[in-house]
Amino acid sequence: MTVIAIDGPAASGKSTVSRRLAQRLGFAYVNSGTMYRAVTWDLLQRGTDTASAVVIEAALASTDVVCGIGKNRESFIRINNSNPDEALRDRSVNRHVSLVSAVPAVRALISSRLRALAQDCPLVMEGRDIGTAVFPETPYKFYLDASPEIRQQRREAEGGADQIADRDKLDSSRKAAPLKIAPDARVVDTSHLTLDGVVDAILDLLRQSGIAPK
Ligand code: CDP
Ligand code: CDP
Repeated sequence: MTVIAIDGPAASGKSTVSRRLAQRLGFAYVNSGTMYRAVTWDLLQRGTDTASAVVIEAALASTDVVCGIGKNRESFIRINNSNPDEALRDRSVNRHVSLVSAVPAVRALISSRLRALAQDCPLVMEGRDIGTAVFPETPYKFYLDASPEIRQQRREAEGGADQIADRDKLDSSRKAAPLKIAPDARVVDTSHLTLDGVVDAILDLLRQSGIAPK
């Protein structure tokens, strides 16, 4: 089983870098944030009170989650037979996702699905707790970072409404698998690097560990 874990706060470059890295290595790409967003979207659709962990946990009993790796070598998720791709970056999801992700039962559900994906093929997986909680045994751990100002600017340049400082605070302070740097992770500050500069820096470090591009 080979998993390259890419963690870090919002807009540190995880998605773009992980996708490119996976392409260079011939690995599949898994975006775990999409899964937490999909659960959040589904709960909101059903009018669930996202401020109550008890209510969320009860709602999970009627949440059917199917996830896998698609033909494009990227992860997908269907939730209660819907594929909410377009809605996952809506303002309402941005505002509620950190509350939902803090609930241990939600984390247990998604983490077990993420672990199952790694049985089939080598992965680049991005998120908040991939190196600390989902695959703590992987030797390939990276933590991407950038200053809060640069990260907020990047999100605004994408045109979305996303108060990332609020999410980062909740994600870092929750009890269950908070965002933190794994002691054995390599930290890459992306503030002043291009996206390909980040990918090349990670590939250089992976080469030293015996993993090379195709
Ligand atoms: O793209 P961005 O970094 O803004 O967010 P994302 O990766 O789509 O993740 C959205 C939210 O899901 C995060 O703010 C966390 O609350 C949660 N998440 C998590 O708790 N654990 C993960 N492994 C991935 C995401
Ligand atoms: O997944 P995450 O939220 O960590 O970040 P992302 O969605 O990959 O990147 C957020 C935005 O910052 C994207 O528009 C990237 O193109 C941009 N970015 C950049 O311009 N330079 C970097 N070194 C990293 C990200």
